[in-house]
Amino acid sequence: QNASTSTDQAEKTPVVILCIGMAGSGKTTLMQRLNSHLHSRNTPPYILNLDPAVSHMPYSANIDIRDTVDYKEVMKQYNLGPNGGILTALNLFTTKFDQVLAFVEKRAASVDYVLVDTPGQIEIFTWSASGSIITDAIASSLPTVVAYIIDTPRTTAPATFMSNMLYACSILYKTRLPFILVFNKIDVEPHDFAIEWMHDFQAYQAALDEKGRDEQGEMAYTSSLMSSMSLVLDEFYNNLRAVGVSAMTGEGMKDFFSAVEEAKKEYETDY
Ligand code: GTP
Repeated sequence: QNASTSTDQAEKTPVVILCIGMAGSGKTTLMQRLNSHLHSRNTPPYILNLDPAVSHMPYSANIDIRDTVDYKEVMKQYNLGPNGGILTALNLFTTKFDQVLAFVEKRAASVDYVLVDTPGQIEIFTWSASGSIITDAIASSLPTVVAYIIDTPRTTAPATFMSNMLYACSILYKTRLPFILVFNKIDVEPHDFAIEWMHDFQAYQAALDEKGRDEQGEMAYTSSLMSSMSLVLDEFYNNLRAVGVSAMTGEGMKDFFSAVEEAKKEYETDY
């Protein structure tokens, strides 16, 4: 009886999915896909848009940073370039984030998922004080998981793959939140190679051997660095979930939401 009561209660707490991804990874398309998928399941999400510079959003957000700050105005007023404008807009919005959170908390009992879209210029969110403040504020209020979106077809080179994994790793250790690697665009390039490289050091090594030697057949400096890094990342790989999706076709949605539920459980146990 107790167990089922606690499960019921757990199901009533929504999970926040913080979508982070490099420009072009398909973040906007994925947000749209998640939104329509959840609508079709009769569990419409609550959506927060934190990207002040997004020009076209194919879904509507419940709370949109653009309704509060006009980043182009901010650029003019403070004489800033585009990145400075986006960062300052985010800083200004952060000063009001307690009010934003109050709105989210008010709706929390009636939704299963809160989707948060972050600026396309990834580092503006991941390496700014505002990004940290917003992330910490959300995560201290509701179970929060990070979905790190990867452009799979552009990650097939071993060195690019490693750079992307290092970036993901830095976000994991910065946020210290349950983490999901979301390999997007699997309609173009299946993500099997990535899973293999993450779980089998020798397979990654073989790919480096194949592509990482110079004309004399010597292992290039970057390749030997990558090879060492992949051993370092072993612990990181063990701490996360990886799923393949296509924001375009909708493939992989079931796996994505299973990973979210698992990550949510991790949050509830560890945070
Ligand atoms: P920014 O707006 O620059 O931050 O990019 P974004 O990460 O929001 O990416 P966006 O959703 O705009 O997608 C970038 C490009 O990838 C677009 O041309 C999309 O149509 C395409 N794309 C996104 N997801 C998929 C996918 O699953 N499969 C394929 N084939 N293309 C995709």
